[in-house]
Amino acid sequence: MAYNLLKGKKGIIFGALDENSIAWKTAERVHEEGGTFVLTNAPIAMRMGQIKDLATKTNSEIIPADATNEEDLQNLVEKSMEILGGKLDFVLHSIGMSVNVRKGRAYTDEKYDFTAKGWDVSALSFHKVMQSLFKADAMNEWGSIVALTYMAAQRTFPDYNDMADNKAYLESVARSFGYFFGKEKKVRVNTISQSPTPTTAGQGVKGFGGFISYAEKMSPLGNASAADCADYTISLFSDLTKKVTMQNLFHDGGFSNTGVSQEVIDVFTE
Ligand SMILES: NC(=O)c1ccc[n+]([C@@H]2O[C@H](COP(=O)([O-])OP(=O)(O)OC[C@H]3O[C@@H](n4cnc5c(N)ncnc54)[C@H](O)[C@@H]3O)[C@@H](O)[C@H]2O)c1
Repeated sequence: MAYNLLKGKKGIIFGALDENSIAWKTAERVHEEGGTFVLTNAPIAMRMGQIKDLATKTNSEIIPADATNEEDLQNLVEKSMEILGGKLDFVLHSIGMSVNVRKGRAYTDEKYDFTAKGWDVSALSFHKVMQSLFKADAMNEWGSIVALTYMAAQRTFPDYNDMADNKAYLESVARSFGYFFGKEKKVRVNTISQSPTPTTAGQGVKGFGGFISYAEKMSPLGNASAADCADYTISLFSDLTKKVTMQNLFHDGGFSNTGVSQEVIDVFTE
């Protein structure tokens, strides 16, 4: 169901790789709610992904940008304002990648070049995106910036590897930049801590099948899907959440506050 919550609002959506991506589902929902946007992804991902189909479906333009490259980001912000005809109301940062995870390096055997690259892509890029927006004065008052994170920032999930550290940094950047964006521009900045979700990035985590089933059994409401996450993100882009900022918001069916569930007890009861 659509509520016209984003009518007249303009933004940038990072990270739609394929139709499983959280950013893809969010772009579809933003479009349904009357928002307009520019889609962006790393040039290397654009060749693999089907982002053009999404652009056609949502009447959007695509501007390639590597989120670790400041020049790309400046160009993206400038061109987006030109295309959309003014300042922005929302930005979604839905980006993550660990080279150590990709190359099968354990947390106790990190290759630090890989660590640095993964940190740049997954965590520092959020600062770079916000600094580009801030310096260009590209956000309208009461705009909203959201990034996606995972609970491994607070609790250890061994196979999440160095992404746990990246997410802790990302969440801290949301708080720190959220202060300045709030004070100086009346813009809110939050992270959504999402359930495990079957996407390209999600499935890169070792043992993802067990991970997602465990979370499903531990969550009183069950895991939140990518479509559920899109709905929640829409609410944070809308005018209904104007005073929510500098928060890490758990969107996980209750997983983060559950000690144990009956279903998990049953597995261990003979
Ligand atoms: N899938 C999960 O289980 C899960 C759970 C919690 C949080 N998240 C987070 O959600 C976000 C989106 O991931 P997803 O699950 O939709 O997977 P996804 O693989 O569909 O999206 C990740 C995106 O990051 C993009 N990306 C990688 N390097 C980039 C770069 N240098 N510049 C610009 N973009 C780049 C990829 O091209 C891709 O579009 C990530 O931050 C991820 O960590 C995912």
